[in-house]
This record gives sequence, structure tokens and C-alpha cells, in this order.
Amino acid sequence: MQMKSPFHSNVLSGRVAVITGGGSGIGFGIAQELARHGARIVITGRRKQFLADAVKILTDEGFQASYLAGDVRKFDNCESVVNFAVSKYGSLDILVCSHAGNFLAPAETLSSNGFRTVIDIDTVGVFNICRAAFAPLKKSQGSIIHISATLQIGASWYQIHASAAKAAIDSITRSLALEWGSYGIRVNGIAPGAVNDTPGLQKLTLGMSAEKVNKMLGPLTPLGRICTKFDIAMVIIFLCSAGGAFLTGETILMDGGAWLAGPAP
Ligand code: HXC
Repeated sequence: MQMKSPFHSNVLSGRVAVITGGGSGIGFGIAQELARHGARIVITGRRKQFLADAVKILTDEGFQASYLAGDVRKFDNCESVVNFAVSKYGSLDILVCSHAGNFLAPAETLSSNGFRTVIDIDTVGVFNICRAAFAPLKKSQGSIIHISATLQIGASWYQIHASAAKAAIDSITRSLALEWGSYGIRVNGIAPGAVNDTPGLQKLTLGMSAEKVNKMLGPLTPLGRICTKFDIAMVIIFLCSAGGAFLTGETILMDGGAWLAGPAP
């Protein structure tokens, strides 16, 4: 059941948002909701066809949206995306870092290059796009939101690479919030657990259907279900709006209370 947004549809009007990993999964869900609330959208990612298909869905709904393919591991690609957004729409106000690379692999067999690849995509990629976006975000007193995870809070089986990468991203959130706060740039993160109906969850549950995953994991949370892309997008809108004006350096744990305790005995 699609929930109804609690925000006015023009709450982000006049704002320009860049969303990394915006062609699919969580990133596309965020792009859709930011557009529905008035933002103009630029999505980026490595797979051009995914980006083109995603932009078509947005423009068919009547929104202003564009894409530029790129790899966040390459700083010049990040600069190109930022320059593209500013030249096309006139500013950059919101940066959502929702790109990620992940796969299940036991530490005892994961190669050094496999570990490095995920750190490069997730962590170096986050630094690169934030650094590239600094000047326009300073001008607009904009907002950065990182999509983190809960993997790294304790430890997660077979995800030593992604857990290390997300822990580093949480640290980057705090460091950038500290250094860029005086420019009016706010930097926050959202840490969801499993997010329904995403390629990432499919991959990590080895292809289980969304329905089956919800049935299995939902009862383990006090709220009785797992997170949706819509849930994440609503918190991002809050963070980017005046409602989040005094929040920075925070990574909001958004797992429906799953961390609190197990199910009732
Ligand atoms: C072991 C693997 C592997 C696997 C890649 N490698 N896949 N090792 N098991 N399944 C190793 C390769 O062998 C190689 O090391 C190194 O990683 C680089 O692989 P490449 O294919 O050359 O790299 P590249 O195409 O740049 O990136 C691969 C990738 C990425 C990291 C798998 O394409 C990717 O993740 N794409 C999917 C995006 C995705 O699923 N995003 C959602 C993430 S979900 P060697 O030593 O052989 O050279 C998420 C949410 C977490 O983050 C929270 C959920 C609860």
C-alpha cells in the first residue's frame, strides 16, 4: 500500500538534487519522491540504460529530470555530474549519496581487490562526489544525505567490505558536518536495515521474493515490517526542509526499532 506523503508537494520547489545511484533501487525511489515534492533531479550511475529508463519515468510524470552516466570512483566524473546539474538547472541544493557496491563473500576467501573495490565505490565515491559538490553547495547552503546501513553497527556475516565502507561513511558524515557547518552546509546520513523491493536486498537474500523477505524480517521489528524506499525518501525531505535546519552530523538509525530487542517471548 502506497503511503501518502505528509509534506506539501512544493516543499522542495526551486531546489536541484543530484542523486548518485539514482537509476535504480533506493536511489530511484528517492529521486521519484524528491521530484514529486518539487525538486529538479539529476541522477548518475554507471549504467546508462538504467539512468535513461529512470529519467523517462520521471519526465513522463511531468518532472524535470536528467542524467549523466559516471563512476563515483573517478573524481573527474563527479565534477562532470556537478557541473552538468549546475549548468542545466542553475544550482545544486541537495546531494544524496545512494550509490553502493556490495556482495556476500566470506572474509577468508574475499580477495584484496574485492575488498578494495567496495571501499572505492562506497567510501571513496562518497568523498569524491561531496568534494566535487562543495562549491555549489556552499553557494546554496545545501544539504548532503548519505545512505548508510546497519551492517557496521555490530558486525555482519560475509560483508566485511561493505561494513567497513559504511562505518567510514558515517565518519565522513561527521567530519564534513564539522568542517562545512560554518558554510551552512548540513551533512546527515540515514541508516536503514533491509529495504524492501530493492536489487540490493534481492542480492543479499540470494534472490528471495520481497514478500518472503518481509514475512521473515518484518516480525523481528517492533513496527512489524521492513523499511521501504518511501520511508527513506520522507526522512530525506524532512532533512532537506526547514524542519531539519538544526540537524547535522547525524546518521539516523532507521530500522523500525529492530535493534531494541528480539520478538516477545
Ligand atoms: C566475491 C567478488 C564478487 C562476489 C566481485 N568480486 N563480485 N568477490 N564475490 N560476488 C570481486 C571480483 O572478483 C574482483 O576481485 C573485485 O571484486 C572487483 O570486481 P569487478 O567486477 O571488476 O568490479 P566492479 O564491476 O567495479 O564492481 C563489482 C561490484 C559492483 C562491487 C559487485 O558491480 C556492484 O556491487 N554492483 C551491484 C550494485 C549493488 O548491488 N548495489 C546495492 C548494494 S546493497 P579480483 O580479486 O577477482 O580481481 C547495499 C545495502 C547494504 O549496499 C545493506 C543491506 C541490508
